[in-house]
Amino acid sequence: MSENTIPSVNDLTLEEKASLTSGGDAWHLQGVEDKGIPGYMITDGPHGLRKSLASETGATDLNDSVPATCFPPAAGLASSWNPELIHQVGEAMAEECIQEKVAVILGPGVNIKRNPLGGRCFEYWSEDPYLAGHTAVGIVSGVQSKGVGTSLKHFAVNNQETDRLRISANVSQRALREIYFPAFEHIVKTAQPWTIMCAYNQINGVHASQNHWLLTEVLRDEWGFEGIVMSDWGAVHDRAAALNAGLNLEMPPSFTDDTIVYAAREGRIAPEQLDQMAQGMVDLANKSRAAMSIDGYRFDVDAHHEVARQAAIESMVLLKNDDAILPLNPAANIAVIGEFARTPRYQGGGSSHITPTKMTSFLDTLAERGVAASFAPGFTLDLNEQDPALASEAVETAKGADAVLMFLGLPEAAESEGFDRETLDIPAKQVALLEAVVAENPNVVVVLSNGSVVTVHPWANNAKGILESWLLGQAGGGALADVIFGEVSPSGKLAQSVPMDINDDPSMLNWPGEEGHVDYGEGVFVGYRYYDTYGKAVDYPFGFGLSYASFELSDVAVSKTGANTASVSVKVTNTSDVDAAETVQVYVAPGKAEVARPKHELKGFKKVFLKAGESASVTIDLDERAFAYWSERFNDWHVEAGEYAIEVGTSSRDIAATGVVVLDGDGKALPLTEWSTFGEWHSDPIGGPIVEAMRAKGETGELAKLPDNDMMTMFLNSMPINSLTTLLGEPGKAITNFLLDEYAKVAK
Ligand code: BGC
Repeated sequence: MSENTIPSVNDLTLEEKASLTSGGDAWHLQGVEDKGIPGYMITDGPHGLRKSLASETGATDLNDSVPATCFPPAAGLASSWNPELIHQVGEAMAEECIQEKVAVILGPGVNIKRNPLGGRCFEYWSEDPYLAGHTAVGIVSGVQSKGVGTSLKHFAVNNQETDRLRISANVSQRALREIYFPAFEHIVKTAQPWTIMCAYNQINGVHASQNHWLLTEVLRDEWGFEGIVMSDWGAVHDRAAALNAGLNLEMPPSFTDDTIVYAAREGRIAPEQLDQMAQGMVDLANKSRAAMSIDGYRFDVDAHHEVARQAAIESMVLLKNDDAILPLNPAANIAVIGEFARTPRYQGGGSSHITPTKMTSFLDTLAERGVAASFAPGFTLDLNEQDPALASEAVETAKGADAVLMFLGLPEAAESEGFDRETLDIPAKQVALLEAVVAENPNVVVVLSNGSVVTVHPWANNAKGILESWLLGQAGGGALADVIFGEVSPSGKLAQSVPMDINDDPSMLNWPGEEGHVDYGEGVFVGYRYYDTYGKAVDYPFGFGLSYASFELSDVAVSKTGANTASVSVKVTNTSDVDAAETVQVYVAPGKAEVARPKHELKGFKKVFLKAGESASVTIDLDERAFAYWSERFNDWHVEAGEYAIEVGTSSRDIAATGVVVLDGDGKALPLTEWSTFGEWHSDPIGGPIVEAMRAKGETGELAKLPDNDMMTMFLNSMPINSLTTLLGEPGKAITNFLLDEYAKVAK
């Protein structure tokens, strides 16, 4: 085959097709080199490149990889609410892939943070599917704009580490459609990731890797996915079943390509199915070819560090700032306490662990900037008991300082891929140290380092300021100094609610499951959808984040743009003398609904950078989906007619103004049957007039007259019409028959 010929599956033997459906080794596709299909490299992801130093041999060593820029993990990036910035992160990651000859980077992971104890919450985006999809899409579009592929993972419903390889996540269709799928759906429909990685777990009793409904009916047939599906590492248990379900690639290989050949020969895999799965792999190689043919490319290490720094700046969320304690004057007498200031926790543990190109701690940054601050580590980054000497040294250091920066958080041993956390609290020795320091010096700002939310409730009163910095990647030291000293205002917003207590979380009743399954009993009421609907107090609500500036939202106007669509515009003004960014958030609050709906849901957002005193107009369009719920009766999205409130604010609990639209509804109606209630007949567009005709016959005596007192009407309305004899005796039958006969004449 000439080099310029693009190969297709028609050029391949059965054995070659089978071989394409598994990897060559843990980090390479299996090529058919003599037919022009290279075995390109694919590797982690998701917030930078983890190319294992031993990867040319297919070996795995989580902590030994080529240097690559460590960007903030998703918990931080999502808090930026800035898809354009995230797109830049994606572009930079792709350049590093090109240098390292990696065709596909394994990420982003957009599973929902169902419960903040989930071990991988640090590398997942949000408790909200709209935010997760509309931020993570930047990684996919950014990486792929440079000719490198992404792998959107872990499809689907991978929300915990406990028993992750086997557990069945038992979830209602509605929660799947409204909570666990939309981030995947949005990214597939708008950015076409080249690959998707299926999850380890089962969904309603079927492993994701063998789930035809998931991988073929939903992903390809409904959403139009054009790329390939690969397995998570070791998620395939029956290769033929997986291939039949729509899985193109088993990773890493189980060296069982012959089983696919036999299955095809024996008719257990249809020839067209094998061809389709193998053609996907050929297409992936073809798509990768251009970028993988670039030789000698070197990415700009400093420029990428700057991207990481900007991303880190926007990842931070200022939760509390009493007495405007931040920003600090670098010339002040500052005490820095906490080992994290010297030994930052800047990324999470597990398969995403990167070897950074550079690393600057907060203390290094202070030294670089000539800021003279005193330092005490205060505690060790292990889960051992407190060392009293470290505590007293820290308290001494805090004495007399103008301000104390306390770096607290979760050490790596407390949070990683592979296990779920058992508590939402930071280690007790850190809380005790904070109390001891505050007793000496009340001017304390806590800087938190953690991948997923921690409780602040037990100690928040002790701190004048709280800066949630998540895990900031390799440029976190400089970014922290930029924010703490006021060179730039914090602008992050929470992508995850901060509950007062983990037992307030709606999933706790079913966490982390038992006997091989976990029931998602909270349904669609995840995170703020529960807290806000049921009026549960939280420490900091979803979408919350302070700034050094102040903003005003005004001139909110809501207009209907179609039968079931709307548009909302708002003026945002920076009313301070500080340049900063604000994120306008739009929540849709349905009126009375046929099903239990969350009080409101995020359906649009826009981050705007405004110079001091500047204003900008923001317009956000709301499509039909923004108002819909997944109806299990219709097995489809459904928009009910009626009033919807459109809330414009700066967090789920700071709503500046609310407008109302009255939608026509999508007109979907279920066919009426003898099992439909009298009330359902009455309110149906076809059934209603038939009921009226029946009443008229009651007046003329042709049919029985219905009782007209309130109590009886209430009973009647909730009765299936095949039970009318209970209330009306024998004449009830004639009414039932009349309704059904008339309906049969007019309804299709
Ligand atoms: C993780 C994936 C990762 C893969 C390869 C798995 O254990 O779940 O996210 O991409 O390993 O390292």
